[in-house]
Amino acid sequence: PIIPVILSGGSGTRLWPMSRPEKPNQLLSLTAEQTMLQLTARRASGEQFAKPVVVANAFHADLVEEQLADVASSAQALILEPIGRNTAPAIALAAIAAGAGSEPILVMPSDHVIADVDSFHAAIETALPLVNEGWLVTFGIAPDAPETGYGWIKVGEKLAEGVHRVERFVEKPPREKAEAMLASGDHAWNGGIFLFRADMYLGALSVYAPEMLVAAQQSMDRARREGTRIWPDAESFAACPSDSIDYAVMEKAPRVAVVPVSMGWSDVGSWDALHAISDPDEGGNVVRGDVVVIDATNCLVQSEPGKRVALVGVKDLIVVVSGADVLVLPRGRSQEVKKIIEAMND
Ligand code: GDD
Repeated sequence: PIIPVILSGGSGTRLWPMSRPEKPNQLLSLTAEQTMLQLTARRASGEQFAKPVVVANAFHADLVEEQLADVASSAQALILEPIGRNTAPAIALAAIAAGAGSEPILVMPSDHVIADVDSFHAAIETALPLVNEGWLVTFGIAPDAPETGYGWIKVGEKLAEGVHRVERFVEKPPREKAEAMLASGDHAWNGGIFLFRADMYLGALSVYAPEMLVAAQQSMDRARREGTRIWPDAESFAACPSDSIDYAVMEKAPRVAVVPVSMGWSDVGSWDALHAISDPDEGGNVVRGDVVVIDATNCLVQSEPGKRVALVGVKDLIVVVSGADVLVLPRGRSQEVKKIIEAMND
């Protein structure tokens, strides 16, 4: 079976003030009653999948376990990172925990929406033959904006029905480059979901990021284990360079393939993205919580019990109240929310 690997270690700063270090976006209910982590676990359950390997920050161990239990899921391994070292090392830990063999692992971020799960599963089936041959496979989303926060893929020659060679992988391009790739018509966004054999990923790391592989292996050799929980050795893991799979491996490896898929994919990484995937009222407003809206249009307003928010005569605003914090900004600028965190940490 395919081993799902769920990455749940991000800090989700762009959804501040709802998302906070103690409870980042993947552990929140943003689009449904279930949390983003729960929706992710459910998406990769069924006959073709083994129990997931979940990689999270040690601080969230109990919360992650409770949330998985709530959806009748449990991890075969819950890897608890002492610190975040970005996605490439997190996936290395998971590939090692999964046995480092030829079984395919399905790497999934824990904060995405996929509306059409059947198409997702069909794309996985399409990818499997090439994965078994050793290709690193990613899923391509048809782009509709010059996004600078995504990876971009130049879709190359056809390798099999529904699978193409990745001619070039460009992570987080500058604006002009993103605009040119959008206009070209032969590029896809990287969906951030990967399917490959555990041994092939570790093999790629040994070539392109050998120090990372050594540190990850050492931290797992010296890990503390208790039931399904695994604590990689902190000192060895601290020596691990920090990098994403996209920069460390996908931009460099030669045998990378893409399965283009239309599956209602969205990276719910910002307030604007959340507004875009929600059902608005007649005025184009998306409101949650104790909110009064008079003559306001196209706003996203989110509050919590006991904290009433009222808007009159404004448009295109994002207003979020959470705990002691209030966020107000115009729609279209929610990528800049992470600057607030930087400013607060200065
Ligand atoms: N365990 C663990 N440890 N998980 C992590 C860590 C870490 O140190 N850092 C990030 N993650 C998790 C996040 O929680 C998220 O679920 C996922 O890994 C992706 O990380 P992001 O940091 O949010 O990635 P990104 O959105 O900037 O970019 C990636 O996704 C895009 C699509 O959403 C890239 O793969 C892009 O190429 C891609 O287009």
